[in-house]
Amino acid sequence: MIYRMKSGNPIDTEAVVNTEDIEQITELEFIDKLGSFGGSYYTDKPDISEGRFALELSYRMNEKTAFFGLGESMRGINKRGYKYISENTDEPRQVEDKYSLYGAHNFLVVKDEEEFGLFIDYPGRVEFDLGFETRDLMTVRIPTKDVYIYLISGKDLAQITKQFRHIIGMSYIPPLWGFGYGQSRFGYKTADDIREVVNKYRSAGIPLDMVYMDIDYMQDYKDFTINRTRFPNFEDFVEEMKEQGVRLIPIMDAAIAHDDRMKIFEEGRNKGYFCTNESSGIFEAGVWPGWTAYPDFLRPEVRTWFGELYRDFTDCGIEGFWNDMNEPALFYTESNYKETLAAFEELASKNSDPTPGELLELAGRINGWNGHDQYAHFFHVVDGKKIRHDRVHNLYGYNMLRATSEGLENQLSGARPLLFGRSSYIGAHRYAGIWTGDNCSWWSHLLLNIRQMPGLNMCGFLFSGADTGGFGAEVTEDLLLRWTAFSIFTPLFRNHSTCDVRKQECYRFGDIKAFREIIALRYRLIPYLYSEFLKAAHNDECYLRALAFDYEDDDDAVETEDQLLLGEGLMLAPVYMQNTEGRHVYLPERMLMIRFNTASEYETAVYEAGHHYIKIGLEQVVIFLRESHILPLASPQVCTADMKHYIEYGHKGELEADDFEIIAFPDPADGPKQYYEYKMWCENADREPVENKIVRE
Ligand code: GLC
Repeated sequence: MIYRMKSGNPIDTEAVVNTEDIEQITELEFIDKLGSFGGSYYTDKPDISEGRFALELSYRMNEKTAFFGLGESMRGINKRGYKYISENTDEPRQVEDKYSLYGAHNFLVVKDEEEFGLFIDYPGRVEFDLGFETRDLMTVRIPTKDVYIYLISGKDLAQITKQFRHIIGMSYIPPLWGFGYGQSRFGYKTADDIREVVNKYRSAGIPLDMVYMDIDYMQDYKDFTINRTRFPNFEDFVEEMKEQGVRLIPIMDAAIAHDDRMKIFEEGRNKGYFCTNESSGIFEAGVWPGWTAYPDFLRPEVRTWFGELYRDFTDCGIEGFWNDMNEPALFYTESNYKETLAAFEELASKNSDPTPGELLELAGRINGWNGHDQYAHFFHVVDGKKIRHDRVHNLYGYNMLRATSEGLENQLSGARPLLFGRSSYIGAHRYAGIWTGDNCSWWSHLLLNIRQMPGLNMCGFLFSGADTGGFGAEVTEDLLLRWTAFSIFTPLFRNHSTCDVRKQECYRFGDIKAFREIIALRYRLIPYLYSEFLKAAHNDECYLRALAFDYEDDDDAVETEDQLLLGEGLMLAPVYMQNTEGRHVYLPERMLMIRFNTASEYETAVYEAGHHYIKIGLEQVVIFLRESHILPLASPQVCTADMKHYIEYGHKGELEADDFEIIAFPDPADGPKQYYEYKMWCENADREPVENKIVRE
């Protein structure tokens, strides 16, 4: 059951789109229902200015209470024991004590004797204290009374989550080629830089489907421009890459450069499409190109305008984009840089040397520039009314993605675009995927990547993944191998790094064969992974999920923080520690271990339920297949464009077991019966799922 309580006069975020199963309840009924789960609700905390909150929900935990969800956030799969704040942030330091990342995903499920789900539909700051201040107390704090709160009851984690996923609408589905492997780097400056990457991948025989173009392709980092010196004939270049089976995926940032000579800026200004400041002028802040203006994506006409701007690119044959800096990121504003300069001047004009304290204060001013202090100083127009940014802050990235998606849908004549962004709110999952932002080449961030996937899936962001290898910091070959061996299972599979760290394209390292084979395995798995993805999207289920979802009564499974279930049949247990030859794996049931030594050579062994130490070499990929399941593997390819047979016959529902190599794990309880089938889903040109029955006798 799904109950919705409306308090005050909330903004319609359009996070929820399917309302037919929702029962509207009053505040009193809500208090009652929450109380039946053991929770309390307080509405008597009006004084926000003193750090108190308008609404508070609390829940007393017992020893075993666990929390799942909250999408993109730090720490474990079970969110218990820390505090998480929904306040979208451009956060280049993803360390354990951060409360906020780029997304606001206010859905969680409380796992207890009586389980329930909670969704706080409010686009400003929301705090989830899950045992941070008081070890056994959950407190959700909302700074306003204008909010929708959803309470979902159900028989287990999976069913509660499925109901939630239904009300928020079907997740974005990428095109099949979006499951290919992509190479990216902040620093590919010219067409030749990109040609070199493609040539090296092709001559190393490492599969590749796309190269991402970071802001260097632009003229002075300005949106919707192309640097014509570095990319003299963009359209031909797009075509040349396509002939090699590679698609180019440009970045687009949220803010538009203040350049009076540019038509886009002028048009946005004349039409009043930008967010305004306190004196009703255009609000400007510094981002990559310098001073920029922020399109008011919350307005439909601004979204239509912005979406249409992509046409210059789609006309050149571009079919995918990534959206960035849409928290929105603000590097500096006039007020904070002026105050900082004044403080510098004041210090410089002193007769004595600055004290360490004064220097620290100055450094703190600069380091403190991340936009949050500005969010109360600019404005949107929502339903004709002026509204302060901080009240709708978490909707900004969502609506940029929506603008982009709607534009691309118009321009690509029915083909699915590849699209993902950085900042999001629940609702954005219908339009695009997300990547997890500026992580680092740290082993702990590989583990973080593993742990983030279940929460993201619960909140609808099925198409997600991290910067494989890490964005900041220096990668090492072993880290990149281990990370790649995990990322071949995440829908978004992209190697990306920043401009001042070691280059991390796979061909730069010693064991090219290992990279080639691991990525080739991804390509062998694409039909299966895409099929599992389509099923998860259409059935409102999780493509990747915590073991707790399928083995709720098994304490060891519930506690497992470093293994994931994928679709119907697979369990992943990635290696995420340096200098280890394997890892401990917990099997909640008997499973078939498949160890791929290369993409085509593998060995299998049956393991009983329980704890095991499994050896996993640096060049190997180990997965586990559940009983009574089969795993179909396609033939290896270097790009999805070569998967013609699969695409052509798959769409017609004519794929057969002969098209695949099949690994089966028969259940001995089935006796002599050795018949297993897998319902492989493909998509036809009308975007409808088509089923191919793959039978192993
Ligand atoms: C941001 C993005 C990163 C990108 C960089 C330059 O830091 O998160 O992925 O490379 O901006 O555009």
